[in-house]
Amino acid sequence: MSEHKDKLPNHVCIIMDGNGRWALLHDMERNEGHRQGVEAVRHITEAAAEKGISYLSLFAFSEENWGRPKRETDALMSLIVDAIHKETPTLMKNNIRCLFMGDRHHLNPDLLERMDQCVEQTADNNRMTLIVAVNYSGKWDILQAVQRMLDENPTRDMPLTQEFFSGYLSTAGIPDPDLMIRTSGEMRISNFMLWQMAYTELYFTPVLWPDFRKPDFEAALEAFSNRERRFGKIEESINIP
Ligand code: IPE
Ligand code: IPE
Ligand code: MG
Repeated sequence: MSEHKDKLPNHVCIIMDGNGRWALLHDMERNEGHRQGVEAVRHITEAAAEKGISYLSLFAFSEENWGRPKRETDALMSLIVDAIHKETPTLMKNNIRCLFMGDRHHLNPDLLERMDQCVEQTADNNRMTLIVAVNYSGKWDILQAVQRMLDENPTRDMPLTQEFFSGYLSTAGIPDPDLMIRTSGEMRISNFMLWQMAYTELYFTPVLWPDFRKPDFEAALEAFSNRERRFGKIEESINIP
């Protein structure tokens, strides 16, 4: 594959979808699909760091996913706890900083403790930032940002600009995603980073998440490198700020 270093996305976000269908296809329980999904997370995190991606955001569990049977949500929560525990040494080895975003209410204390430990342990790593969205939803993020902005500015004399507001989102200080990948063929955003994805390039692939590997990731990067991002301008004015 040819390298387009200059057109590499700085921030890639992924809606990791298709674990259940992968399991069904292999005549297994849905939870086995989620277990295989963790393998894909490891491969893609390493691949992204190798490629020189600065930020990788992974949608691991949505606020809406609580609507699944308890057996599945319990299994997903304990998988996330285990994965954080098992993968932290790999993050250290690869010099990757890990952050989490999402509503911490209703997450069990065990998980919160693991998340905090992982963030603390990897805080000084600087090769890539991995952001894992757990109990996240884009609408939740916007509402919590509005709430905090109002709480912290009781006199309401703040400058209500996009930059100022962005500072209250879960992604404060993190650039908006340049590329969003969704696996499994579904073509929707499913309440992921709604504000942040205003100008993100969208890439959909039929590959199910547990099968998603480095060559699939590279195909997405290749597609991105061939996109022309106009941000509402026309070709001849693209370089005019
Ligand atoms: C994605 O796979 C994982 C989560 C949403 C937690 P799914 O579990 O949604 O898999 P499908 O869409 O049913 O195949
Ligand atoms: C989106 O996948 C959420 C995550 C990948 C965590 P879903 O499978 O939950 O989304 P829908 O229901 O197909 O929109
Ligand atoms: Mg799904």
